[in-house]
Amino acid sequence: MEALVMRISAKSLAVTMLICSVAWTAGSAQTAGNKMDSKSDRWWQHAVFYEIYPRSFADSNDDGVGDLRGIASKLDYLKDLGVDAIWISPCFPSPQVDFGYDVSDYENIDSMYGTLADFDFLAGEAKKRGIHIILDFVVNHTSDQHKWFLDSKSSRTSAHRDWYIWRDGKGPGQPPNNWVSVFGGSAWKLDPTTNQYYYHFFYPEQPDLNWRNPAVRDAMFDVTRWWYERGVSGFRLDAVDTLFEDPNLTDNPIDRPGKNAFGDPFLKNQYNTKLPEVHDVLRGLREVANEYNAVLIGETWTADVAELNQYYGKANDELQLPMDFLFTMVNQLSPAAFRKQIAEVDAASGWPTFVISNHDIVRSYDRYGDGRHNDQIAKLMAALYLTLRGSPIIYYGEEIGMKTTPPTRLEDVQDPIGRKGWPQEKGRDGERTPMQWSDTQNAGFSNAKPWLPVPETYKTHNVASEAKDPASVLEFYKRVLKLRRANEALLKGRYVAINEADANVLSYLRIYQGRGVVVALNMSGKRRKISLELKGNGVVSAHRLLATGQSSIEGKVLSLAPYGVWIGEFSK
Ligand code: GLC
Repeated sequence: MEALVMRISAKSLAVTMLICSVAWTAGSAQTAGNKMDSKSDRWWQHAVFYEIYPRSFADSNDDGVGDLRGIASKLDYLKDLGVDAIWISPCFPSPQVDFGYDVSDYENIDSMYGTLADFDFLAGEAKKRGIHIILDFVVNHTSDQHKWFLDSKSSRTSAHRDWYIWRDGKGPGQPPNNWVSVFGGSAWKLDPTTNQYYYHFFYPEQPDLNWRNPAVRDAMFDVTRWWYERGVSGFRLDAVDTLFEDPNLTDNPIDRPGKNAFGDPFLKNQYNTKLPEVHDVLRGLREVANEYNAVLIGETWTADVAELNQYYGKANDELQLPMDFLFTMVNQLSPAAFRKQIAEVDAASGWPTFVISNHDIVRSYDRYGDGRHNDQIAKLMAALYLTLRGSPIIYYGEEIGMKTTPPTRLEDVQDPIGRKGWPQEKGRDGERTPMQWSDTQNAGFSNAKPWLPVPETYKTHNVASEAKDPASVLEFYKRVLKLRRANEALLKGRYVAINEADANVLSYLRIYQGRGVVVALNMSGKRRKISLELKGNGVVSAHRLLATGQSSIEGKVLSLAPYGVWIGEFSK
């Protein structure tokens, strides 16, 4: 039975005060990535972001699909959880081939989610609670049903012809080059009306915009203004790596032998991703964002932190929050691997962003869970990404320990890549299942059959039940977030790694103006001890703020339960 996590009040602090000695000066062998304390804070640096996949969050009109009124009805829940900003995955009109990532009108709301009036209502209600709204801006491509594309394909001389990428084939039945779509097959589709191919990095129903055309740039920049004027606080920019292609259409080289789940060769996307011109666009979008004190978050699949730095921009004039997906690549509870990744991103040229799951990535609950201690591990992971120096983005349902539930039969698959790549690639349905609000029918998500099945775990892992259980994953999230909000060291402090040789416990300090927090995370299934008597100077007193699984401090030694968390405060 897990001990209650405990937050110690100022009054009881004196009783629990213990003396420890902790080295925390810059330059100590124990430190890493010593960035200066934040001098000028921006709202998004202290914000906790929460991603909502609107189809799956809350259904207000009982059609089995979530909607904006549904989101509005859950704002109090989000506020109580400790969320400052919601990022809503695309809710614009769309044929839904890629569930909204195929936009047919950037300046409206899809009727399945409601109306612009519903959006305004949501925005107004969110504002009352101090919650910012971030929209998802699909910048690389539109739907093939967007009026721009319909005009573009209508003739070789149409007004929008050059808004997309049209080319002649190499020969009869031969696409212009060897580029393949990330969703399978050639990245070129022949359109019989004009007998030319158009380029699509994703599905054929998602033609790529031609960002070399200034008219495209102007139109897309205006979209952001239109939403800023309506009250949105920023955008998550979809698939930014893919905006530009080599105009000479040079063939991509083979990356490695073999075929992927779609039967395509493994190519290196050298000539159709991450072209330098991407950064001109990001600088332009940032200029507009700056006029509105808005934030730009990027879907940035970078190979290393050097590449991540490019997205902050040379003069920090591109994305404020490029997502560090390298963090999601640490797919095991490995202190060494996390330590390395954290140190690298902490030394990056901009403010870190931490993500452990999203609508394209298997949920963290099963990625890290061992099948026996999944709840403890979910709390451990929460303690990690919510106490690091940076802005966390919580994916809906992570806070209640939702698990990935992929389809088991081909006929149940909704995500087209799952149908195309079955069984090797089952698609992304598993991480997009309905939010589990209660243990009632359909997990309280809808009174109608939900568009994706509700996982069986809804009976134990749901908001209503967990809100009543002080030892639940949800209550732990709330406590960490409350602590984070109230504690300047957690919000602004430097990150200092400690006990860096420890193979089982990841531990670090957060230090701000003489105040500090120590975070110790036991990533193993056995009880572990770590000493806070570190090399260097500085005598501090420490007291527990939050702990799980009977983790405690004895003298200068922390004793951590299997997968246990101990977060304490110290002062010099
Ligand atoms: C991004 C989205 C993903 C979508 C793709 C195409 O990667 O996160 O869900 O399928 O872009 O828009």
